[in-house]
Amino acid sequence: MTPLLAPSLLSADFTKLEDQIKQCEQGGADWIHLDVMDGCFVPPITFGPIICQAVKKVTTLPIDVHLMIIEPERQIEPFVQAGADSVTVHVESCNHLHRVIQTIHSKKIKAGVALNPATPLAMIEPILSEVDLVLVMSVNPGWGGQQYLSVASEKIRTLAQWKKEKNLKLLIEVDGGIHQNNIQEIVGIGAEVIVVGNAVFHHGNIQENLNELRKQFNK
Ligand code: DX5
Ligand code: ZN
Repeated sequence: MTPLLAPSLLSADFTKLEDQIKQCEQGGADWIHLDVMDGCFVPPITFGPIICQAVKKVTTLPIDVHLMIIEPERQIEPFVQAGADSVTVHVESCNHLHRVIQTIHSKKIKAGVALNPATPLAMIEPILSEVDLVLVMSVNPGWGGQQYLSVASEKIRTLAQWKKEKNLKLLIEVDGGIHQNNIQEIVGIGAEVIVVGNAVFHHGNIQENLNELRKQFNK
């Protein structure tokens, strides 16, 4: 499949969010990635369902919500009401991950599980046949603009192999430190959805940045 690009609004200019989202659409973005942080699971605080609701008003792109929060089960319904198309929870924040995935699916949206750089794939292997997305963190969550951690690459390769061997429906999403100089390699080892923040928003033109990223893996 052609890899999907999911710009993370964490790095966008919040004084002109609608315009930035429109530029993402014109640049061929496939999803909009929302990084929700609560100041507990990760040190920063970002935003909640109210921003998801605002984004939903100005785009038809699927909204991919990444919950970097404790007790994520408490925020599934609010984000569903706010228009989320997928909700991804961290395995590290769930005592009952299988039940959380079931709850997300009961709302008729897609369910994802994220794992931090130090968390082994074994932690989520039993749930892989149930989820629509595995979000492999290639940075320690909390901030945009960090360096890609190569520990993520082995997980991407293994997931791509398991996907084939076990005939899994899940998409392999990778999140953090991805830019025009490493995206081709990351796609080459099996990444299917690429979250990009700084590489899209922090310099130059959003559309050109997205086109440049796509050019790297369409070579
Ligand atoms: C970090 C977030 C990532 C981050 C990616 O916790 O989950 O989505 O915003 O941003 P870049 O692409 O700048 O590393
Ligand atoms: Zn994210």
